[in-house]
Amino acid sequence: TTMSSLEDLIPIVNKLQDLVFNTIGTDTIDLPQVVVVGSQSCGKSSVLENIVGKDFLPRGTGIVTRRPLILQLINLPFEASSSLDEVSSDSILQTGRRPEQWAEFLHVPGRKFYDFSEVRREIENDTVRIAGNNKGINKQPINLKIFSPHVLNLTLVDLPGLTKIPIGDQPTDIERQTRSLILEYINKPNSIILAVSPANVDLVNSESLKLARQVDPQGRRTIGVLTKLDLMDHGTNAIDILSGRVYPLKLGFIGVVNRSQQDIQINKSLPDALKAEQEFFRMHPAYRNISYRCGTQFLAKSLNNTLMAHIREKLPDIKARLNTLMGQTQQELASYGEPQFAGSENRGILVLQLMTRFATNFIASIDGTSS
Ligand code: GDP
Ligand code: NA
Ligand code: MG
Repeated sequence: TTMSSLEDLIPIVNKLQDLVFNTIGTDTIDLPQVVVVGSQSCGKSSVLENIVGKDFLPRGTGIVTRRPLILQLINLPFEASSSLDEVSSDSILQTGRRPEQWAEFLHVPGRKFYDFSEVRREIENDTVRIAGNNKGINKQPINLKIFSPHVLNLTLVDLPGLTKIPIGDQPTDIERQTRSLILEYINKPNSIILAVSPANVDLVNSESLKLARQVDPQGRRTIGVLTKLDLMDHGTNAIDILSGRVYPLKLGFIGVVNRSQQDIQINKSLPDALKAEQEFFRMHPAYRNISYRCGTQFLAKSLNNTLMAHIREKLPDIKARLNTLMGQTQQELASYGEPQFAGSENRGILVLQLMTRFATNFIASIDGTSS
């Protein structure tokens, strides 16, 4: 099967989470966190927003992201999202129907945000509250959760960009501060680094690649993202970089075109932007032939495959633990003798047995081995 977006992983991960939770216990499959890294205004927030598929991040020229944003996506079963007591009557009155997704901030306990432009405003306000009105950055993160049936249980981190020259009220060692903040997040072996570089600046000067190399020298968990392909000098292109001939990364480089500042000003919608991006690659003489592996959709797909590979890596361990559990269940069953009575204890064991059988079949079907 081929995956087309992060959403396609949702049913698989959900099933597996349930399975692990119901059989082995409280363990769940921890997906790696995705950390977006790059220089100031290279397009990090834009890329993140495109991946999530929602308009909710402050974006723009200058220093916009001044605190880490830890964005936790939480997959909501369809039933739960429409349960009445979860939804305020206000929001039903406003929209005429029950909203199926919302956001919550750690620093605003008890409030559900149904309007994602309010989410953006709250990020802006709380950035000012903690990091001040000028250009300073602050390492205290903003914790935001998005509950939706259309997201994968996944953590994404947006970070302040690297700058060389302090401006506004930034301290003289702003570069060192930002660098150590970023390293804190990408150091974790469990993080996938989206190393963003703008295509209109020489890749040799890419700060994100320099940082990624420090913690991932083999380039195993770094995905190169080349933004602003639409802003390259006329007659030049990035085909060599996108073909992996310039800089070695196992997961490769993916070119994208995000919304420009003008697009933001005229409120160009996300779907329209994605359509325009596809057109750009399809019509471009240099990228026409590789358009299938360019753009935001392909980036999401690659991220998807990387997460899938991570799940596969965890499967043998889950399998082993399930086998142990099944062995124990069988022994327990044997000690009870033949199941002639329908006591609740006995029924519990049978349910467990069915569940472990389902588990084995399910795991075999997703990792492609028959047992
Ligand atoms: P960040 O500072 O790295 O988070 O960058 P933002 O996502 O806030 O983008 C900074 C500015 O660059 C915004 O005005 C965006 O509209 C613009 N921008 C980002 N990516 C692209 C792109 O691919 N093409 C064009 N033309 N502009 C872009
Ligand atoms: Na910016
Ligand atoms: Mg940003």
